[in-house]
Amino acid sequence: MSRRVWLAGMIVAVGALAVLGLGAGNLPAAGSVLMDGLAVPDIGPLPTATPIPKGNLNYRAKIELGKQLYFDGRLSKNNQVSCAFCHNPFSGFADPRQVSVGVDGKLGGRQAPTVYNTAFNPVQFWDGRAGSLEEQAIGPIQNPVEMAETHESVVAKLRKIKGYQQQFREVFGSDVNLQGIAEAIAAFERTVVSTNAPFDRHVLGDAAAMNEAAVRGMALFKGRARCILCHNGPNFTDNQFHNLGVPQAGPLKEDLGRYNVTRQEKDKGAFKTPTLRSITETAPYMHDGAFKTLEEVIDFLDGGGGPNPHLSPLVKPLGLTKDEKADLLAFLKALAGEPLKMDVPKLPK
Ligand code: HEC
Ligand code: HEC
Repeated sequence: MSRRVWLAGMIVAVGALAVLGLGAGNLPAAGSVLMDGLAVPDIGPLPTATPIPKGNLNYRAKIELGKQLYFDGRLSKNNQVSCAFCHNPFSGFADPRQVSVGVDGKLGGRQAPTVYNTAFNPVQFWDGRAGSLEEQAIGPIQNPVEMAETHESVVAKLRKIKGYQQQFREVFGSDVNLQGIAEAIAAFERTVVSTNAPFDRHVLGDAAAMNEAAVRGMALFKGRARCILCHNGPNFTDNQFHNLGVPQAGPLKEDLGRYNVTRQEKDKGAFKTPTLRSITETAPYMHDGAFKTLEEVIDFLDGGGGPNPHLSPLVKPLGLTKDEKADLLAFLKALAGEPLKMDVPKLPK
């Protein structure tokens, strides 16, 4: 059997699995919740099938290759800064540092968001400047405060590594190239999914999966605490941009956020609503890592966010009691997904 035919067979098999998965995971269409006269999508379980673009189907050899690239510091100038260096699988695929540190200890201006469930993001980055995971993946390589390497040089470097040349031949039928690097990393990222949390099991019928505090917290989340206005749908995000008046922390004096992309006044200081899945693993919080704990985030929102001329009108002082804050926290803890088994791959020579 030629390699092409074999590959095609694999793709069909994976496709069939995806269809089967979709059958089971075709969820009852999420209803909506009425808040401030707005009908917002209800929170609910994630679809069991991850969205996968037609142009970059996932199959095992590609995912394996992408995983090696994700953990490989040789994608950076000093051969030490891998994707995993800032999106650490042991810190919820995020960065426990306030802002990321790249090659030569250069500080970035923003906190690294989690790679969990990025497959579900219609746009990437805090300001939404990248459209797809494929587009996003090659960005950090050339970013001077991240991997500080050129695309030409990384391709040349990887071509000299026999194990990579071999796998590129097998997966893409070509020498190492930038497009393949992007596609393989994106394919791997689409397997990094946080799901099947106590919350999911609770709404799917296992009432006991969430404790009473978390159940009360969920009611607050969908009601008086107003969280669902922005953190809605199965991935707990509306995929929109809002200004919460988060205090500027980290090395930047000012971060205009979404404004950098749209140049619209109303978008000054607005950032993408992040997922809240596995949120207990990904401290610190916010685009600049301004808050170390979820308690601090809840106190901040309880106070109606921070003073800012562009503050979202959806943010208002909440007047939560101490017990209600504890309930809200219990609910956020119930969003911790099933642990993902992630062994660090052996890198090719
Ligand atoms: C030096 C640290 C660093 C390295 C190395 C790094 N990243 Fe990031 N990553 C960040 C930061 C910081 C952001 C947020 C930047 C922004 O929003 O402007 C980010 C954003 C992302 C996002 C967007 C997530 C979202 O929800 O919007 C993805 C996906 C991602 N990185 C994947 C990768 C991949 C893949 C690699 C390796 C090729 C990589 N990163 C290397 C720090 C890093
Ligand atoms: C107006 C929309 C909106 C509302 C309402 C809202 N959030 Fe958010 N949330 C966001 C945005 C946008 C960010 C990122 C802001 C930033 O970094 O500047 C965020 C960030 C967070 C974070 C940090 C996530 C991370 O990965 O850093 C947590 C936790 C959080 N929100 C929980 C809540 C809770 C709990 C509520 C209800 C009490 C709530 N939010 C209400 C839009 C909203």
